[in-house]
Amino acid sequence: MCTVVGYVGNEYSRAFILESLSRLEYRGYDSAGLACLTSADNRLVYRKSQGSVADLARQCDNNPIDGYMGIGHTRWSTHGIPSEVNAHPHFDCQKKISLVHNGIIENYHVLKQQLLSEGHVFLSQTDSEVAVHLFEVLFSDTQDVKAAIISLVDKLQGAYSLLFLLEAYPDALIAVRKKSPLCIGIGTQEMFVASDVTAFAGRAEKVVFLPDESFAFVGKNSIELYDFSGKKLQPVAEDIDAMWIYQGKQGYEHFMLKEIYEQKKVLHSTIDFLRSINVRMWDHVGFTNEYIASIDHITFIGCGSSWNAAAIARYVFEKVCLIPASVILASEFRHQSLFVNQKNLYCFISQSGETADTLEALRLVNESSQITMAVTNVASSSMVREAQGFLLTQAQQEISVASTKAFSAQIGLLYLLAHRIAVTKGILPLDAMNTAFNDVMLAAEILEGSIEKYASKIVRELAPKYAHYKQFIFIGRHSSYSFALEAALKLKELSYIFVDCYPAGELKHGALALVDETIPVVVFSSLDVPVYRKLIANAQEVKARSGHLVVFAFEGQQELIDLADTVFIFPHVHPLLASLAYCGVMQFFVYHIAKCLNRPIDKPRNLAKSVTVE
Ligand code: M6R
Repeated sequence: MCTVVGYVGNEYSRAFILESLSRLEYRGYDSAGLACLTSADNRLVYRKSQGSVADLARQCDNNPIDGYMGIGHTRWSTHGIPSEVNAHPHFDCQKKISLVHNGIIENYHVLKQQLLSEGHVFLSQTDSEVAVHLFEVLFSDTQDVKAAIISLVDKLQGAYSLLFLLEAYPDALIAVRKKSPLCIGIGTQEMFVASDVTAFAGRAEKVVFLPDESFAFVGKNSIELYDFSGKKLQPVAEDIDAMWIYQGKQGYEHFMLKEIYEQKKVLHSTIDFLRSINVRMWDHVGFTNEYIASIDHITFIGCGSSWNAAAIARYVFEKVCLIPASVILASEFRHQSLFVNQKNLYCFISQSGETADTLEALRLVNESSQITMAVTNVASSSMVREAQGFLLTQAQQEISVASTKAFSAQIGLLYLLAHRIAVTKGILPLDAMNTAFNDVMLAAEILEGSIEKYASKIVRELAPKYAHYKQFIFIGRHSSYSFALEAALKLKELSYIFVDCYPAGELKHGALALVDETIPVVVFSSLDVPVYRKLIANAQEVKARSGHLVVFAFEGQQELIDLADTVFIFPHVHPLLASLAYCGVMQFFVYHIAKCLNRPIDKPRNLAKSVTVE
């Protein structure tokens, strides 16, 4: 979502701010801005730009500002369109106090009305601007920054990480955290503040993660930390285990294409990782063997592609562990009733480990004293810190907003996790793990081999042809329906083409009325024979209405293959890993459709990689 960063030290702040904003630009890329206190006379100066961090850097080159203390921001719009006016930093009426904000101030409307009635002048449509005007009032009342912050957080509702920089207080940045992530990197005579530790990885050796509902005064040699009541807290510094390695595109035109091609390697790393922790698996995750053996239900919670991966994994857990599994969208979870069952494992799936909807669901379950586990790709993430157990997917950093290798890593890891639980429960013998490793290895082979098989046909013929269609229907059954949802999400977010997705059996209950030759119906077959037979019937219903069929099928599924206008045929895998076999070709096909349409593939409009607002 938005990113906030700050610097205080002996160097000019601009270089760090621009570098760290570009490292975290995947979080939001509508607009960017920075402010600093001039080194000569502590005057607040700023630059903003609608567009990328590179645009902001150009603006700063043409019209330089700098100082030893500064704050920066990239935005993903929630309140107000992407524009220079709405870009952060925002200011008080006198332009003596500046603020960058990540999160949402939920009661901003009431506060804004009050402040307007008192004569404050607002320049933007953002929720964030109220926080700086409110701070202006509270600071002028008390002339005490600490008291003003305590009073401010008492009045603000919502989730926020805030960084204040003010002329009247040139010794420290003020960092405030409620729910949204915020951390401080400790350097030598310099401090870095950021939404994510990767902002300063390589520059600082230690990090302090601000506890929820706390604020800090960050000087170049000091951190003074308080809770929201003003009680002093001892900052806990941890070693930084995140790395920042500049990931170029390595010759690929987009990060997405590079990440599609990394999937086989990622699945191999997943296998190596689980092999390496095999016997001490539950120690590593954070649970006892006894607890795992006692589980009688598993609830998966996630958003977007992570939710789709969980929906696919649900079938694996039911079949392999012989326990019921549920899958809940994180954004819906808080509206449901929460039933306490200590034998239910709540498993939170998230590439970033920071998605606000998922994180809030995790916190709700933690509050109910039930057992939580995070499956995430980021070791330094909030979910790793807050869940009782965690397991890391081995996808390495994923940069493209559309999830590819993180999704396949989740499928592979969850398949192996289900087998490990079944072994612990005594349902499967220990050597079943080797079979499961081989299953994933074969699926990884097919994933990559199938891209090679179809690459040139997709690039030359199929992508240009299907890029002309304005809408699609995707169908599947059982886990192939969950995969169809993932494929539909990919096509929508990358190409902006409208896709509707159905369980194939539902088509005849309404959506079949849409079918004609202008809407391709994409069918994802299954290796489960009863499911396959039903899918043939559904495909025939489409053909009988002059529908256009694109089919993903397995070798030997001739009846379905013969109905297709376009077909992709895959070698056999374990039926529960069909999604892994399909996903490389599906992603490659969608990537090239988006490319034909000239879309900004790595950064689709309106989106962000890490969605840290609810
Ligand atoms: O980081 P997370 O896995 O929690 O993110 C969840 C979704 O925001 C994410 O999967 C999103 O749907 C992707 N852009 C899909 O490609």
